[in-house]
Amino acid sequence: MVEFGGRTLHVAPGVYVPRAQTEALARRAASLLPPHGRAVDLCTGAGAVAAHLMTEVPTARVIGIDIDRRAASCASRNGVATAVGDLAEPLRLDAVCDVVTAVAPYVPTGELRLLPADVQRHEPRVAHDGGADGLDLVRRVVAAARRLLRPGGWLLIEVGGDQDEALAPTLATTGFDRVTPWWDEDGDLRGIAARSREGEP
Ligand SMILES: C[S@@+](CC[C@H](N)C(=O)[O-])C[C@H]1O[C@@H](n2cnc3c(N)ncnc32)[C@H](O)[C@@H]1O
Repeated sequence: MVEFGGRTLHVAPGVYVPRAQTEALARRAASLLPPHGRAVDLCTGAGAVAAHLMTEVPTARVIGIDIDRRAASCASRNGVATAVGDLAEPLRLDAVCDVVTAVAPYVPTGELRLLPADVQRHEPRVAHDGGADGLDLVRRVVAAARRLLRPGGWLLIEVGGDQDEALAPTLATTGFDRVTPWWDEDGDLRGIAARSREGEP
């Protein structure tokens, strides 16, 4: 069991443990999700962000997706409507979502060995490995979010280091504006919010 955003979640062995640093993303996402709105939490893991959205905006429809069956069943147990699949592949919800969230794997492959020993031992590589610059899956999340979001809808993704700069061209060319990174109290980058541009396909 783990505490996230003031609620207790079940986390099965071998599933990524939701981190306190992600609560800021969950809070921002909840503030952008209108009553009766629709949200998709890609890479939902144990469903922490999705569960937060469901609690904060009880009239919203929220779906979590994960490629790992153990994670998806954990999210289900935490009350989240869940699908198993690769990013948004199981969904037919084009251009109707208000919010897409994703804490996708974003650790560069070469830095996986720097993760704490217990993380390397207990959490699956698929939860962390983001490829050469850490952004392989995050770039795919951006494309998937552009498909899911209505014009004016918001994407919120967790990143670190200086990945905001590396991701900026992808966000711009995929169709996002109002790109807004945020940092924690220590000055470390924690995430990016971006709006799906209006007025274009
Ligand atoms: C860093 S964990 C985050 C989990 C959760 N969002 C959280 O904050 O607690 C990343 C999650 O992404 C999932 N994942 C990795 N590749 C995926 C893909 N192609 N499609 C869907 N989920 C994926 C992993 O199984 C893992 O549960």
